[in-house]
Amino acid sequence: MKMKMQFSVLCTAAVVVFLSLHAVQAKDLRTVTEPKNPATCASLKATSGDESKTIQAALNSCAKGKAVELSSGTFSSGPLTIPSGVSLLVNKGAVLKALPNPALYDLGAKTCGTRDDVGVGCKPFITIHGATGSGIYGQGIIDGQGGETMTGHKESWWKIPESGDSAKENQNVPRLIQINDSADITLYQITLKNSPLYHVATSKTNGFTVWGITIDTPSSSHNTDGVDPMGSQNVTIAHCRISTGDDNVAIKAITAPSRHISVLNNHFGAGHGMSIGSEITYGGSDITVSGLTLDGTTNGLRIKSNTFRGGLVSGVTYTNVCMRNVEHPIILDMEYGHHVTGNLTPEFRDIAFNNVKVLTTGTYTFDGLSDSRPIQATMNDVHIKKGSKWVTSHAKLSGTWAEDATGTACGNAGNV
Ligand SMILES: *[C@@H]1O[C@H](CO)[C@@H](O)[C@H](O)[C@H]1NC(C)=O
Ligand SMILES: *[C@@H]1O[C@H](CO)[C@@H](O)[C@H](O)[C@H]1NC(C)=O
Repeated sequence: MKMKMQFSVLCTAAVVVFLSLHAVQAKDLRTVTEPKNPATCASLKATSGDESKTIQAALNSCAKGKAVELSSGTFSSGPLTIPSGVSLLVNKGAVLKALPNPALYDLGAKTCGTRDDVGVGCKPFITIHGATGSGIYGQGIIDGQGGETMTGHKESWWKIPESGDSAKENQNVPRLIQINDSADITLYQITLKNSPLYHVATSKTNGFTVWGITIDTPSSSHNTDGVDPMGSQNVTIAHCRISTGDDNVAIKAITAPSRHISVLNNHFGAGHGMSIGSEITYGGSDITVSGLTLDGTTNGLRIKSNTFRGGLVSGVTYTNVCMRNVEHPIILDMEYGHHVTGNLTPEFRDIAFNNVKVLTTGTYTFDGLSDSRPIQATMNDVHIKKGSKWVTSHAKLSGTWAEDATGTACGNAGNV
């Protein structure tokens, strides 16, 4: 009898240890605290005209660990590269504008500012590549000028005319900030607006902190994702406000897995929501989204893939989330972009929803591919609005949820 009890206690303890071990790992493994602005190596005042050369020269000669400060006024510039260890600091009141001249960004094929079948003809406005310890700081603004008329064209980056050929509809426009093959990169407090394409994207970057930034771009702009960690690990996105025309945050894995990602205490306005996928071929895991309010996004918590992209998405925890005016509050979809198919098998499992509250009606979708590999999710303390629609196919949902949400405002959704 005694033996048996000890055994079951041991088992319980083992389960608890296992669960808490997993809970501990489902996040950025670093200890992340609020960043501090680096000391400055040079301080620039805006003059007029194209200031690319001045800013780039200051960045190139800045000592590691320090920042080039744009102190006041409006700076206009073409593409910039932030060297390893160096940062850019845009002061409160200063604005850095990306000149809307496609020739400055063209990668050589003279396609930047046009549509074609691939859409990779432009370099980004700001590039961080192979860097360690670089960043972008300050309470100023970086404006991608997506809505301004392009030099030598009649339209803006956002309104490049249709080509008339359905196979050539990819816009060649710059991303605002692209960070590749880097480590220990920080974005702090800066406001980003009007990117022609994605605002921030990383590739194979381990150690990435996005803290207290604002993204404020019209909901009508296409493909203007907020922050997209791709094939990156140890990522924290905290205390940000993101309103834009596409995914507010999208975790992707096109060339490497994305794992250990914490999305903490953020607010999303317009946009397509908190996404994982659809390009998640290398897998996404150990992701925690906690303290999120969404007001007026089209989707809320979304995981998307298809048989063309495949990918295993596992160990994802959503905690303390509150939504209002969201059409699809939860959408786990393995048939994203219905016509995009291939031979891969996406898998979504070990997905947990804890303390999720949705104050307005919406459609909840759990659309798996087969009963042999259903979508597996657990609901705990999930309160939705009466009259919502629930669509499940090849999904195994456990736990409980109730149509008992009341109230009209989200407050801080348990944000700390
Ligand atoms: C993530 O951070 C932890 C803790 O600092 C570190 O041990 C690990 O190597 C990091 N992972 C990557 C891929 O850099
Ligand atoms: C950065 O990574 C992206 C995505 O992998 C890639 O498309 C782009 O060409 C890379 N840029 C550079 C400068 O390596």
